[in-house]
Amino acid sequence: MKKVLVATDKPFAKVAVDGIRQIIEKAGYELLLLEKYTEHSDFVKAVEQVDAVIIRSDIADREVIEAGKNLKIIVRAGAGYDNIDLAAATEHKIVAMNTPGQNSNAVAELAIGMMIYMARNAYNGSSGTELRDKSLGIHAYGNVGKYVAGIAKGFGMKLYAYDPYVDASAMEKDGVKPLASVEELYSKCQYISLHIPANAQTKKSIGFELLSSMPKGATLVNTARKEVIDEEGLLKVFEARPDFKYLSDIEPDCKADVSEKFAGRYFFTPKKMGAQTSEANVNAGLAAARQIVDFLENGITTFQVNK
Ligand code: 3PG
Repeated sequence: MKKVLVATDKPFAKVAVDGIRQIIEKAGYELLLLEKYTEHSDFVKAVEQVDAVIIRSDIADREVIEAGKNLKIIVRAGAGYDNIDLAAATEHKIVAMNTPGQNSNAVAELAIGMMIYMARNAYNGSSGTELRDKSLGIHAYGNVGKYVAGIAKGFGMKLYAYDPYVDASAMEKDGVKPLASVEELYSKCQYISLHIPANAQTKKSIGFELLSSMPKGATLVNTARKEVIDEEGLLKVFEARPDFKYLSDIEPDCKADVSEKFAGRYFFTPKKMGAQTSEANVNAGLAAARQIVDFLENGITTFQVNK
């Protein structure tokens, strides 16, 4: 009997686990659960006997991949797959997939929610500002960026985006003005919502130059990855621009510095929680389970990211 492991340090909602179980057991496989584990070695051990793994932000490094003697497929139930060692997976002929789009609305709602929270001074009773008529620059117009645009449109924000991989006409159709460069996006927009993946090109790519070019009242919203920020540059902007604010889904490495010196100008979630809704868990978790069955039964590799 084939075995499928769900290894989630940050567990899915029960309704999602139940749905995953149904799909896996209907296919005649066994479901194994490893939730809220504290040691990476627990994951390494759990993967030894299984044919397939579903993960979230859990680290599927070379050690995990090499421990999976029967492992054929790893599915990241979510968008970003920077937590999978793709080279090691490819080397061991293991298919790696993600589930694009499945948790995007949840992430977009958090991005907008954090903007409102900061615009209203953390609901502390003082006079805040509104989102209406403010400029919002969407940095990367993928699934999450598109949802952010849809919600922000309802708030009456002025929408701009930069994404060299997306057709300008697709943005224009959504009422978003495509801009030709990342520099133009940052210098034009009071709010920037980040949706770029973390990879060799993007890591530390958002720093002092771009952030200090933002107009007055600059607010950076990061529901992407902390690694795309050049934190030295970020601290410099905090210092140089008393109007600058930073909202991030997950604490930056420089959290201690920020909280010591820049009170009231930041908000960080304690754990990555953009995709922490039962709807997103169901969408991404069930998609991952279906992709595993489709692959093991019929060799379908539509969402493979290490082709
Ligand atoms: C993603 O890449 O899909 C998001 O960052 C969600 O990550 P999570 O599944 O660990 O919450």
